[in-house]
Amino acid sequence: MAFADYQNEIYFAGLHGVVPRLPMTYADLEPPAQAAMTPSVRSYVAGGAGDEHTQRANVTAFEQWGLVPRMLVGAKERDLSVDLFGMRLPSPLFMAPIGVIGLCAQDGHGDLATARAAARTGVPMIASTLTVDPMEQVTAEFGGTPGFFQLYTPTDRDLAESLVRRAEKAGFKGIVVTLDTWITGWRPRDLAVSNFPQLRGNCLANYTSDPVFRSRLARSPEDDPQAAVAEWARIFGNPLTWDDLPWLRSITDLPLILKGICHPDDARRARDAGVDGIYCSNHGGRQANGGLPALDALPEVVEAADDMPVLFDSGIRTGVDVIKAIALGATAVGVGRPYAYGLALDGADGIVHVLRSLLAEADLVMAVDGYPTLADLTPDTLRRIR
Ligand code: FNR
Repeated sequence: MAFADYQNEIYFAGLHGVVPRLPMTYADLEPPAQAAMTPSVRSYVAGGAGDEHTQRANVTAFEQWGLVPRMLVGAKERDLSVDLFGMRLPSPLFMAPIGVIGLCAQDGHGDLATARAAARTGVPMIASTLTVDPMEQVTAEFGGTPGFFQLYTPTDRDLAESLVRRAEKAGFKGIVVTLDTWITGWRPRDLAVSNFPQLRGNCLANYTSDPVFRSRLARSPEDDPQAAVAEWARIFGNPLTWDDLPWLRSITDLPLILKGICHPDDARRARDAGVDGIYCSNHGGRQANGGLPALDALPEVVEAADDMPVLFDSGIRTGVDVIKAIALGATAVGVGRPYAYGLALDGADGIVHVLRSLLAEADLVMAVDGYPTLADLTPDTLRRIR
């Protein structure tokens, strides 16, 4: 089945009076989804750093580029599949790690719903360290779709190694180390309501289920949740340096991917240190305001990464955005907030709708504009819009 078929499915259902339960655009999805969230989850998901200029610029950066259509190509069948770390994936799309995705679901188990959506669509989930349900329960829902584990590296190295061992055993296919969030950026929306979900004991299941973490506590997290949160706050953020990279490399044979790389020199240095992939992202503008849109950093990072795959996120709102990121050199493209909003409105079905809509639009743009494969989408296919 082609991704574009979602369009016919919707139109044919319309012949029986059925219209999609969820909105068809991000602009229409955002308001009802935010309204369906509790105020604290809403501010955490919707908000970003500072006055959110960078968060907005991530999105508008895509509007600066236009894809040039080519005619008489006959792109009747399109191939959106990609090779990633030896795996063949049906499309370049993946779900970026979202720490509170668990809380975005109405039943409070959004990590499991996301994993189920991954199973149904073939779109991989990168599971955050910060989940409501432990990672072993998340991977149990993956079906045949591969998934990745995103590590927030704690200062306690034994705990970091334990988390990675568990991720390997649970069946994740790669470790994504997020580098830009060892300290939380200045987020006025959360500050205004004095809200930081983890400090209220949310999304700490991977810690409280971990034997090393538990061994650091005088009493079990079940008996003394406050002490567990205090220990978590003490060990959460590790200001890693390049000197830590050999250790990180040494603790797993799984593909190691560094998230938050936006400078070509950092990409080169990471490659020299033996990592397997670069993840170009500015965390959706949640960490540092006043930066470049991630899309503007992408081409130089791709060039520096050389033969390493480059994952990309920050600002993806449409299927055409996915295509533009691919044309600028991304190997795989992550969606963030849109799937959280789909989840808030309609559980796993809501995520499936968001993912299928992105993929259908991407596929149809390739059809209409005459680009049958992702390899046809080179930087030459884009023009700057004046
Ligand atoms: C995130 N992101 C994130 N990244 C990460 O590496 N680990 C995490 O736990 C989280 N948590 C998280 C929570 C929420 C609510 C959001 C919105 C984002 C960042 C995420 O992986 C990705 O970089 C951004 O979401 C991309 O930006 P857009 O597309 O959401 O604007």
